[in-house]
Amino acid sequence: MKRVCVLLALCACGEDGPSGGGPPIDFPAIGSLADPSGRGSFRFGVASAATQIEDGNTAVDWYVWTLPEAMGGIGKGTFVGDAVRGYSRVMEDLMLVKGLGVDSYRFSMEWARIEPQRDVIDEAAIAHYREQLVAMRTLGIKPLVTVHHFSNPIWVADPRAISCVNGPTSENLCGFGSDGGPQIVEELREHATLLGQRFGDLVDEWGTVNEPINYLFASYAVGYFPPGILSLDPNQFAKVLRDYLASHAAIYSALKASDTVDADGDGRPADVGFSLSVADWVPTRMNKPSDNPEDLAARDRLHNLFHYLFVDSIKSGMFDANLDGVAEEAHPEWRDTIDWLGLQYYFRAGVSGDRPLLPAPISFTPCTSGLDFGACRPSPQPSYCVPAMGYEGWVDGIYDVIVAFGARYPDLPLVVTEAGIASTSGKRRAENIVRVLEAIDRARANGVDLRGYYYWSLTDNFEWAEGFGPRFGLYSVDYTTYARTANEGTEVMTAIASARTITRDQRAAHGGTGPMTPEPDHMLDTYCRKD
Ligand code: BGC
Repeated sequence: MKRVCVLLALCACGEDGPSGGGPPIDFPAIGSLADPSGRGSFRFGVASAATQIEDGNTAVDWYVWTLPEAMGGIGKGTFVGDAVRGYSRVMEDLMLVKGLGVDSYRFSMEWARIEPQRDVIDEAAIAHYREQLVAMRTLGIKPLVTVHHFSNPIWVADPRAISCVNGPTSENLCGFGSDGGPQIVEELREHATLLGQRFGDLVDEWGTVNEPINYLFASYAVGYFPPGILSLDPNQFAKVLRDYLASHAAIYSALKASDTVDADGDGRPADVGFSLSVADWVPTRMNKPSDNPEDLAARDRLHNLFHYLFVDSIKSGMFDANLDGVAEEAHPEWRDTIDWLGLQYYFRAGVSGDRPLLPAPISFTPCTSGLDFGACRPSPQPSYCVPAMGYEGWVDGIYDVIVAFGARYPDLPLVVTEAGIASTSGKRRAENIVRVLEAIDRARANGVDLRGYYYWSLTDNFEWAEGFGPRFGLYSVDYTTYARTANEGTEVMTAIASARTITRDQRAAHGGTGPMTPEPDHMLDTYCRKD
């Protein structure tokens, strides 16, 4: 998503390495995400999130956030409407998942649908998700359920009333970091308990939250997501972060306590982790990195905030409240609340030491516009530009990121819970898939305990602030008929996941580190202003 790239711009780096065509790669069978004996196993999956796909989702904050003002909303971005009708078409979409030959489907359950008003549970929504899970069991698709993926019931933080002049009420708890923050943590604890009780017999793997830093940043620092709070005060951001860390820990503990049924008989009723946005952050003046200690230091600060702070806090139970790199605040209840870690990789970005940590020390570099939406600078490697998202989809960078996480957290099983590309070209999508898997294979061969790969996303969908323009789907969606159509990326993903092998021919056709097939020209013209 571009929310980070509002503040970012991407780096200029030379292309290197040969094109693909190495030996075939075999992937072992699916295993547990967190069982220590599952080291060496591997799974294929696809991912989605409720707000991005579901129709009739009227109690969610994104609904009023994007609803036109004339209709009582605040008219930000593109109206989410019925998204891709993924709620009413869920059974059809599950057949698409099955057809891909993947092992698992990562999706989120919409809190706003289950609890549209505070303490009022919608049993029809519970029944819907149960039916979905039962169908998945019948089809042999393992669920990985995300509890909180960028969306809230309106009563958690009403974007129409963010000033909260009267303090938190049952209709508006005022969001994370406010006086209502601790209450939201308790609401999420109750919600996760309910999920564990009602679905624990069908689900063994849960994700608490999705991309916490990006989400909080977009929602509570730059006002790009609902509730739309604009505040670059680091102390306020720390309050928001503290509430969200507490929410993660509360969800983790609630699921561990309430999901006591081992759904798949592997002896593990609830493996609970979370998914983190990661990127290949590089010093912008990287021709001579040793000459730019400021950029290197800025890169390290960004690593601490974006990559490590959340994980370190929930492993150690210590919080770096002033974001200075030293954790001084004890939260023993957060400690060891993680069984696996999801990594989500989309881009490479340049970092400059002459910019503050908040909003972000990101500098203008090719493929992206930084704060200048719609601009697209000439790049030495335009094939890597992802114009629909305004960033550089430097696939190869995922390798270093995975290896860095493997080295820092050797006891934590990793899984790529999202990687993908926004493109209208099936060939480009196939290249993204094969190249990400090649990098994953290299990292595994070098000893990293990485247990799976989920392509983002099953279908095209509502890309948050970017609306319906970016096309991430293995299945393209026609927004008039809502028909789903496969493309070359779908074929390649299906062949690889079904055979658990990438052939020499597939590698030669799509792999390697050479230039990618460029985005079709009309997209560049639409999204980029060439200077
Ligand atoms: C998010 C998804 C989003 C995807 C593509 C991830 O940051 O988890 O919700 O659609 O990136 O931008």
